[in-house]
Amino acid sequence: MFRRIAIFLSPLALIGVLTAFQPQSNSTTIADDTSLAELIESLGGEAEPHQVKDIQGVSVDAGRELVHKGITDDPDNPGNTRRQSKHFVCTSCHNTVKEDPDLRYSDSAARLQYAEENGLPFLPGTTLYGVVDRRTFYNDDYEKKYGDLVRPARKDLRGAIALCATECAQGRELADWEMESILAYLWTIGIKVSDLNIPESSMAVIQAAVDGEGDKAAALEVLESYYLDRSPATFLLPPPDRNEGYAEAGDAQRGRLVYEHSCLHCHEERRYSFFNLDDSKYSFSFLEKHFPQYTRYSTYQVVRYGTSPMPGKRAYMPHYTKERMSDQQVEDLRAYVTQRAQ
Ligand code: HEC
Ligand code: HEC
Repeated sequence: MFRRIAIFLSPLALIGVLTAFQPQSNSTTIADDTSLAELIESLGGEAEPHQVKDIQGVSVDAGRELVHKGITDDPDNPGNTRRQSKHFVCTSCHNTVKEDPDLRYSDSAARLQYAEENGLPFLPGTTLYGVVDRRTFYNDDYEKKYGDLVRPARKDLRGAIALCATECAQGRELADWEMESILAYLWTIGIKVSDLNIPESSMAVIQAAVDGEGDKAAALEVLESYYLDRSPATFLLPPPDRNEGYAEAGDAQRGRLVYEHSCLHCHEERRYSFFNLDDSKYSFSFLEKHFPQYTRYSTYQVVRYGTSPMPGKRAYMPHYTKERMSDQQVEDLRAYVTQRAQ
């Protein structure tokens, strides 16, 4: 559905009508499915550097399969490629659709609610939807975790994918055609104008600038105020006293959402881990008992530190940053687990 801009209702509309008879070459109507990247370019903004290189074997379909299944047809040989990772696929840890109701904020409480409403998992990695529109990767505290490894990934999406393929997914390196295919797929899940919820007044400013009737730089600033161009990452610690936990009192109702959308995504039927979790009393009692302990079975421990991968050898659990699971949400989970263990 095309949403024409409210320009016809604004004072600018008059000018629009008066100039409508003059030839206009640079005018585009912004539609719901106009991509953010396209719009930035029409406002004179800088195009993202990670355009797809046209090399042999590259396709969106291959990229989609690599991200969702970890394998695809090998263009050079009959049959499939080798699995990218023995343990994971990209979607073990990343969504590929919009996961934040308002793209201006990285807010774990709003995201969990949105996950419940839209049937999405609640994951440690940021969604790959819109990743092509971000300018920096592995932000903030990730430098602490990966040190020098982050440098080539900070400002380079290819570098970020390469780092994640080997470090996060504990898998093999991607061939060039695979990397470009993943990029080609990621470009199909970039941010669309309709996802930004831009109010009509701002949209009119942007449309006017696109039509050559306004200040493009100013309109670009308006546009950029409607989304984050990076995914912030703050590392947190387990509570100093694990018996007491974090100061917040838990809400078991919300804790259920954490359990179902996070823990079960990976642990139900040992999907990505040998450690099984389900809806049984056994699971809840186990988690409850270990919550306050100083062991690898403590939820405080695994949520804040993750578990350590032994390179290439086994699956590990990635930790959750503050932006991906708040202290409050961990306490909510504890309240739920405690309730279900009774
Ligand atoms: C075991 C979990 C896991 C797997 C599997 C995984 N990732 Fe990640 N990935 C992460 C985490 C955690 C981050 C940290 C930054 C973030 O996303 O918040 C990350 C970061 C990224 C980033 C940078 C995002 C940003 O905005 O900073 C990209 C791009 C990425 N991963 C792509 C991939 C691709 C492609 C695959 C599959 C080949 C993959 N990842 C597999 C957990 C994972
Ligand atoms: C992205 C996938 C993923 C998510 C989400 C996840 N885990 Fe894990 N978890 C793992 C993996 C992989 C391991 C490694 C254990 C193994 O060897 O199989 C693990 C390990 C653990 C362990 C330690 C088990 C051991 O054998 O050392 C506990 C406890 C645990 N997870 C609890 C949780 C809880 C509670 C949640 C929800 C807050 C959760 N996990 C969410 C993937 C995940």
